[in-house]
Amino acid sequence: MGKIVIEGGYPLEGTVRVSGAKNAVLPILAASLLAEEGVSQIEEVPRLLDVRVMADTVSALGAKLEWNGSSIRVDARRLLSVCPPAELVRKMRASFVVAGPLLARFGEAMVALPGGCNIGPRPVDLHIKGLEALGATAVVENGYVHFRAPRGGLHGARIYLDVPSVGATQNIMMAAVLAKGQTIIENAAKEPENVDLANYLNAMGARVRGAGTDVIRVEGVDRLHGATHAVIPDRIEAGTFLIASALIGRGVYVENALSHHLMPLIAKLEEAGAVIEDRVEGIKVWPCQGGRMRPLDVKTHYYPSFPTDLQAQMVAALTVAQGTSTVTETVFENRFMHVAELQRMGANIHIEGRTAVIEGVPRLTGARVTATDLRAGAALVIAGLLAEGQTEVYGLHHIDRGYDNLVGKFTQLGARLERIEGDAELQIAKSVG
Ligand code: EPZ
Repeated sequence: MGKIVIEGGYPLEGTVRVSGAKNAVLPILAASLLAEEGVSQIEEVPRLLDVRVMADTVSALGAKLEWNGSSIRVDARRLLSVCPPAELVRKMRASFVVAGPLLARFGEAMVALPGGCNIGPRPVDLHIKGLEALGATAVVENGYVHFRAPRGGLHGARIYLDVPSVGATQNIMMAAVLAKGQTIIENAAKEPENVDLANYLNAMGARVRGAGTDVIRVEGVDRLHGATHAVIPDRIEAGTFLIASALIGRGVYVENALSHHLMPLIAKLEEAGAVIEDRVEGIKVWPCQGGRMRPLDVKTHYYPSFPTDLQAQMVAALTVAQGTSTVTETVFENRFMHVAELQRMGANIHIEGRTAVIEGVPRLTGARVTATDLRAGAALVIAGLLAEGQTEVYGLHHIDRGYDNLVGKFTQLGARLERIEGDAELQIAKSVG
């Protein structure tokens, strides 16, 4: 089994460049299936396991993909199937958003129900409800959802989402772009990745307005063509580096980070005592006094609140804060598995309902720990960077799902990390290419 071996206590300094956003490129690859004419060129694509899974899903449906560095050329003019391989959909929940594009273009989609995952049950009831509102029938059988459009095709509808689900907003948006008439999605997810998806759809000839607000309006069109699109920077990767550099840095420049995507985090890091400088092409961060944050109360919620995907990383940082902090997770039911691993490193945390109560300790000590999901993995790497002694982080496949060369980027900033591949990782690394 592979691991990352970290020698703690080395300060971070210099410049690190953030890659393209995983959670933008995944729905954008799904949306590329809508192009009946021309080809798409998707740029700034990170080399991640999840991107490989989505690329394999789109290829399995018949699209022709060509990688060239961080660009992918997608030719979806001739697709062969409306049923992506179940093992790919089950491997990654995000693949479920191929349903909307397939239903819109072919009037049918047969998609395996995504598995749950470590952070809690991951229902798709809002996806199904939204696509049914556009006129589709949805039959759940043998672990699949079989969607069919009516004979005349999908029609516009007014849809209210009980929860501003990122994935459901994406699936409905991508189905509505070819539906007859207007679709209004209310209580839509406002994440920047959904805005990026809408920008790509509009470049393909769609008419999507209001992405990034509570109400998205889509005017159906007859057909879409390929388009060139550069994916936005990954705000969660950027936030991971900002949190680490607020603790153990001598001044780090996070290049390609967009501060307006990170306002809640920046506010919290400044409250904790870090110094943040917003520069046009990135964000500079200087550490808190003595490398220890002032205690904070953090609450995750839907965008534009503090992102759940930075919760684990913030918990790790607050383990050595100068007092008692609380972190409340409101989006997912079970996203504190990293707490037990941090306790092995000497953290003093207890869970009360959906809140982690963190008593700051003077320092953590290195230990063998295991990542339980991709953001928990990043949190354990941050803990290892600030701990005394050596830390071994296992569960690399989680980290590889969401971070493009995390070890290399931290090493470039002066940290002492080494990645030791296990057999499983060597196999996966070959598949990512
Ligand atoms: C996206 O997941 C992200 N993944 C997640 O990032 C992120 O944590 C999450 O949004 C919340 O911001 C991708 O974009 C690929 P949701 P998604 O639908 O779309 C409930 C990472 O680390 N819900 O917004 O699956 C659901 O149970 C990953 O990169 C329903 O009840 O999240 C959850 O409580 C982890 N019914 C809440 O909504 C539904 O039909 C938010 O889920 C759908 C969702």
